[in-house]
Amino acid sequence: MKIAVLGGTGKEGSGLALRWANAGHTVVIGSRDAARAAAVAQELNLVFGDERIAGADNLSAATDADVVVLSVPYTAHADTIAGVKNALTGKVVIDVTVPINPTDFLRVQVPAGGSASREAQSMLDNGARVVAAFQNISATHLKKLDAVVDCDVLVCGDDDAAKQIGMQLVRDVGMRAWDAGPLDNAVVVEGLTPILLGINKRHKVKGAGIRITGA
Ligand SMILES: NC(=O)c1ccc[n+]([C@@H]2O[C@H](COP(=O)([O-])OP(=O)(O)OC[C@H]3O[C@@H](n4cnc5c(N)ncnc54)[C@H](OP(=O)(O)O)[C@@H]3O)[C@@H](O)[C@H]2O)c1
Repeated sequence: MKIAVLGGTGKEGSGLALRWANAGHTVVIGSRDAARAAAVAQELNLVFGDERIAGADNLSAATDADVVVLSVPYTAHADTIAGVKNALTGKVVIDVTVPINPTDFLRVQVPAGGSASREAQSMLDNGARVVAAFQNISATHLKKLDAVVDCDVLVCGDDDAAKQIGMQLVRDVGMRAWDAGPLDNAVVVEGLTPILLGINKRHKVKGAGIRITGA
């Protein structure tokens, strides 16, 4: 699959890019600045010793991809979507974004549109199918390619075929995927992240995550 990771120059997106490239997908990192994307891609490719990750501006990356991942701060979420909307028609869009208030990041924030991913779907009224995933996976785990990420991923979406693709992309990076229901449920998944960040801080752990038990 050809995957564009918008905001892939950042912590979370670069980790996902690395893992998907390692799993054999074609990955393009998107950025507001094509040169920055190319530089980060080059840096990530050092792990592999070949050029399997490319870099481009966000619009070019989204245009060429089958699956587009949104991995930007919530404050940049709406603008990023607006900038690439026409390139997303009919595509699967994996939204990793968590609505975090940078000045109060340990408290759950519920955005006016219900959740970040619900807001994305509302903006993308062009047949794009938004799937919410990975919001609870700390970037600290993703970069260590040889490490098993001891966390599960809850996947929400209204389009079943798109959700199946999202779940496969979770398995491809070595994690368990759980169908967590419709996109409206993403408000809870996004809300778990500030709770996990608070657990990291109060219990002095790195990258707390969740596990579904009883399966
Ligand atoms: N970090 C984690 O452990 C983690 C875990 C789970 C979920 N998340 C969520 O995943 C998303 C990305 O997290 P991150 O830690 O990777 O974020 P980040 O490193 O702060 O930012 C990611 C990228 O977004 C772009 N960006 C930053 N500010 C922007 C702005 N004002 N306007 C447009 N683009 C901007 C930048 O790319 P360019 O400058 O190259 O355009 C940046 O490299 C967030 O919503 C976060 O809540 C993060």
